Amino acid sequence: MPKNKRYDTIIIGAGIAGLYLASKLPKDKKVLVLCKDIPWECNTFYAQGGMVTALDENDIEPHVLDTLEAGSYHNVKAAVEALSRDSIAIREDFVKHGMEFDSAEDGRLLYTKEAAHSTSRILHAGGDATGRYMHMFLMQQNLHMLQKNSLVYDLLIEGGRCYGVRLMKDYKPETLYANSVVIASGGIGSLYQYNTNSRTVSADIHGICVEKGIELKDMEFMQFHPTVFVKTPFARKLLLTEALRGEGAWIVDEDGKRFLFDYDPRGELASRDIVSRSIFLYKRESGKKVYLDFSMFDEDWFIKRFPNITKTFKAIGYNLPRDRVEISPAFHYANGGIACDLEGRVPGIKGLYVAGEAARTGVHGANRLASNSLLEGAVFAKRCADAILQDDNCWEHEPNFDKDYDTLLHEENDKSYKHKLREIMWKDVGIVRTKSGLLEAKNFIYDTKSKKIGRLLELRLNTAAAIVMSALRREESLGSHYIEEKY
Ligand code: SIN
Repeated sequence: MPKNKRYDTIIIGAGIAGLYLASKLPKDKKVLVLCKDIPWECNTFYAQGGMVTALDENDIEPHVLDTLEAGSYHNVKAAVEALSRDSIAIREDFVKHGMEFDSAEDGRLLYTKEAAHSTSRILHAGGDATGRYMHMFLMQQNLHMLQKNSLVYDLLIEGGRCYGVRLMKDYKPETLYANSVVIASGGIGSLYQYNTNSRTVSADIHGICVEKGIELKDMEFMQFHPTVFVKTPFARKLLLTEALRGEGAWIVDEDGKRFLFDYDPRGELASRDIVSRSIFLYKRESGKKVYLDFSMFDEDWFIKRFPNITKTFKAIGYNLPRDRVEISPAFHYANGGIACDLEGRVPGIKGLYVAGEAARTGVHGANRLASNSLLEGAVFAKRCADAILQDDNCWEHEPNFDKDYDTLLHEENDKSYKHKLREIMWKDVGIVRTKSGLLEAKNFIYDTKSKKIGRLLELRLNTAAAIVMSALRREESLGSHYIEEKY
């Protein structure tokens, strides 16, 4: 193996988890951040609302309780406590290094509220461009190598140890070795017809884990964001941040009725799983369209507070806040993921770690509390960096990894199977599920797996199968997993 192909740490993914983790590894370590496409094609970049932090020590307990309640108490409590406890130091670290969150004229940080939070504790930047600002900040801070256009299609695992990765760099296969490999590749958005995710988030690495026998956990808990404009031709649908409702926007039907109160006394501020499901059921029962209404806001205030949304919707013909926007729920976030401990270690595979949305630490339970995701990315990346520096992952001789897939990543009919999969996942493995629908999805997945397909589609199907099988195993509704039909 050529020496220049071996690293101390390879990080797969350049969103908040990958970049923040890199920033916590010393400059003299040989670290490589792999980015599938261009660096800003990641979910962090598109995050609007903000990043939660406990306001102070007294707010840790309420933040923990809000997170547990939103997660239907399916959360791992120790993970939630770590998230909230560490959040104060994370905020201080970002501010100390120069991240500019929105603040008042006297310098006080401004906090907003989102659904299911008992207080305003969400930091934001650029009004509604928090992810973009944080991503740009982390890119500027990055001291390590970052390699673009690098699509990882295999993990080199043997004898309970990870030795590196195989990837396509500018369409050429490459093998890279490392003492530690971190999966920070995000979730699974592209599996669903309607989703808010970057087009790069396509469940490949989860699929590799399934192939290697690495456990995915809580995969039945897929989160659907309630307020998304889906009538665009692009794969990524347009998010309307929950902070809009936190500030007072309403969800109404075509007659202006705030129907959510018929489902939950908190109305627009019920947790995300409840609001999404209520919209879905109301539309189905009434046949009516559903809108997000901003007409209560002062125009100047709105444009300053939500500049991005104002601009994005102006470009497609809306005059906000005067016009209301038709909305639908859409897939947003994977609450489940690759099983790991609270430092991101993947059990049974030495040298393999996971952080951010890809990880299942148990922090979100059955439904993530709004704006806990950027915080999760930072908190668990820092814990993971500390573990990497402490663990002895060095190895002497790598095994011979001769199997490769380089010419078989795509096959001719993959595109049409991929589209069909996205439709089926939306229809049968979406907001409201039935056993018969899940079985239909399972049949499609296993039938397609038996055809001549490329490796990348195979990986997507592995992940889709993990979601469907988890959903079939959980016979009772919980959080974002809602089963309509009794088994
Ligand atoms: C939003 O701004 O509504 C999304 C924030 C999140 O996913 O927590």
